[in-house]
Amino acid sequence: MLRSLVPGRVRQLIRETWFRRELDRIRREVQDREDTMPSRESLVAASRAWGNPAWSANLHYLVEMCQQASKAQGPILECGSGLTTFLLGVVVARRGLEVWSLEHDRAWHARVHTWLRRARVDNVHLRHAPLRAYDGFDWYERPSGHVPHDFALVICDGPPSETAGGRYGLLPVMASWMAPDCVILLDDAERDSEMELLRRWQEGWHVSFERYGLDHPPAHAVVRLATSSGSPRPDGESEAHTRAGT
Ligand SMILES: C[S@@+](CC[C@H](N)C(=O)[O-])C[C@H]1O[C@@H](n2cnc3c(N)ncnc32)[C@H](O)[C@@H]1O
Repeated sequence: MLRSLVPGRVRQLIRETWFRRELDRIRREVQDREDTMPSRESLVAASRAWGNPAWSANLHYLVEMCQQASKAQGPILECGSGLTTFLLGVVVARRGLEVWSLEHDRAWHARVHTWLRRARVDNVHLRHAPLRAYDGFDWYERPSGHVPHDFALVICDGPPSETAGGRYGLLPVMASWMAPDCVILLDDAERDSEMELLRRWQEGWHVSFERYGLDHPPAHAVVRLATSSGSPRPDGESEAHTRAGT
């Protein structure tokens, strides 16, 4: 009842203010901690304030993402923007790292961009990158302008599942942007489509992976590039040493 009396724009403003407050709490927390890890309570609070539960990463993914980001030794690439974009920016800011985030949806890009600016998350480069057809799959268009070629961590929570080829396109299109020992955090790893893409990645690249949270889906996979800068596997090489148990 009360909700229907408050105009949508005012509701948005209230939510944004609430979210900024939770983000500032995490900023302070991260400043004070050697390991730059936000507490689980703060992540839950930020998630609630963000309020996009059907589309946002779950707590397990957020914790893993912050842990990986806290120890990343280079820039971070994100596919699919939202709550994760803000948290990444805040967690790595103290160590002077930057985040490049790709967003295919123009309206969502505009909203996230505006909120990033108002929340003073200045170390995130959010790029509008529409989806386009590649060879048998769709993936983000490579954004123009400078993009690092030594990403230490990739947060892969987009594009949406109905995209042709799902998230397969990350390695064929962007492996050359990744550092030799890059870690990829892939969400929704319990899905058959994600298992299939992990299998295809193993056929084409030197990767190993482990999946977590299978008992509480959505699960995620921690994927490790094993050799020089995302190079394709040489023909005929044994898969044995690149496979990890799942
Ligand atoms: C799984 S979401 C990415 C979520 C982001 N990593 C997070 O944790 O908030 C993948 C894509 O869904 C789209 N999306 C996000 N929220 C949406 C919403 N409420 N409705 C429709 N599309 C949405 C955006 O284009 C986003 O890049």
